[in-house]
Amino acid sequence: IEMRDMLYEGKAKKMFRTNDEKQLLVVYKDDATAFNGEKKGTILGKGQVNCEMSALLFRHLEAAGIPTHLIKSLTPGQMLVKTVTILPVEVIVRNIATGSLSKRLGAEEGKVLPHPILEFCYKNDALGDPLVNDDHITALGWATKEQLAVIRTMALKVNELLQPVMLKAGLRLVDFKLEFGLYDGEVILADEISPDTCRLWDAATGKKLDKDRFRQDLGQVEEAYEEVLKRLRQAVMVE
Ligand code: C5P
Repeated sequence: IEMRDMLYEGKAKKMFRTNDEKQLLVVYKDDATAFNGEKKGTILGKGQVNCEMSALLFRHLEAAGIPTHLIKSLTPGQMLVKTVTILPVEVIVRNIATGSLSKRLGAEEGKVLPHPILEFCYKNDALGDPLVNDDHITALGWATKEQLAVIRTMALKVNELLQPVMLKAGLRLVDFKLEFGLYDGEVILADEISPDTCRLWDAATGKKLDKDRFRQDLGQVEEAYEEVLKRLRQAVMVE
């Protein structure tokens, strides 16, 4: 496969066209942003960690019947994916209250939720990715009712599949964000699953091992990303 011109540069990844229009090459970046781009920085090695972790988890999900955009891993920090039309909706799944849930609704930080909370946000930087409901999504044409039903089911299944893997790695899956795309008319899981997009707390100590270390200036950011990857490699190996 041949790399062609850049199609799009996002905050954490660059997407390149290839000689096959159905395949894109993703280059993961070390650039880190938070608070809708207000805070900027670099997390050395993040690109490679996020790429390998996403690939490892996408393979795990695929094996359990979740279609993903991953085709294959390439050199470290790069992967080949299916060319999808990304739906402009971020899907957040929460198992433990923290972050914007606690801020917005006053839920006690660290409270284990009796069942997962699914949230949808409209992917729009200028509007600050506002929270939206099913009716906004269907009435404004971001997804059909049928697609939304598939997204809901898949997001909850991803949660069910990821929680035990994370636990095996000594991590609590606090919350995470997914993005979906359309490929040949079907909804498939796209984007990434990494410490940028998940909150992961050490199961024994509660230590934050995710992007909150960057957001909250907690230090040892690179170490946390490396630690998560190291543990997950081990966890999927023993399966
Ligand atoms: O900030 P908030 O509590 O809403 O974040 C919920 C989860 O979604 C966190 O794991 C966070 O890392 C992720 N997220 C993301 N990209 C966004 C917003 C949230 O990956 N734009």
